[in-house]
Amino acid sequence: MTSKTPSLVMLISGRGSNMEAFIRAIAAGTLDGRIVAVISNVADAPGLDLARRADLPASVLSHQDYPDRGSFDAALGDAVAAHEPDLVILAGFMRILTPAFVDRFAGRLLNIHPSLLPKYPGLHTHQRAIDAGDAEAGATVHYVTSELDGGPAIMQVRLPIQPNDTADTLAQRLLPLEHQLYPAAAKLHLSGKLTLVDGRLEFDGKSMPPTGLEWRPQ
Ligand code: GRF
Repeated sequence: MTSKTPSLVMLISGRGSNMEAFIRAIAAGTLDGRIVAVISNVADAPGLDLARRADLPASVLSHQDYPDRGSFDAALGDAVAAHEPDLVILAGFMRILTPAFVDRFAGRLLNIHPSLLPKYPGLHTHQRAIDAGDAEAGATVHYVTSELDGGPAIMQVRLPIQPNDTADTLAQRLLPLEHQLYPAAAKLHLSGKLTLVDGRLEFDGKSMPPTGLEWRPQ
């Protein structure tokens, strides 16, 4: 690790398994980075304990302490910006962010969404894929823009939906793939080879599919 090691701020609301995937990828040396802060908007998020056990600086900033979305996002933005992070990782952060927050960290704010975007932005993605009779489900890592789950996609992982899948069994099989996908997509961002040209992503000067690069589980 050098002073050039990219710094990451993680925003969580719950279990924090995607955050843990980053902790592991960094420890294993597959991702060059250091997590400089973990911030949860939920005081009893289990992910906070995970972060503390990994000796990471973890803190709570509760949206309930602010009168409205704008003032919470301003305070959250200040807390994040204080670390001057190279990347801000939404890891199960269950708040819709205002355009003011999104613009402040534009191009370095990532989210993982458990669907093959542009399909199924929003909630209940697994059930919606099953109900639609889809053959495949998946997850997408994308840059965050003001459009909910709508920013440019960096990487996607796909998996087949089985005939007797429920939302729970699908989510269970997808989660370990998310844990590989998210650090890999962050690494791609940190490589500096991704550029946004007219709202579309290019990798190494070549245009990428609108659904991002496909991640094949290792
Ligand atoms: C994941 O399924 C992720 O795709 C979605 O929220 C869930 C967060 O899980 N955005 P965790 O808190 O990282 O375990």
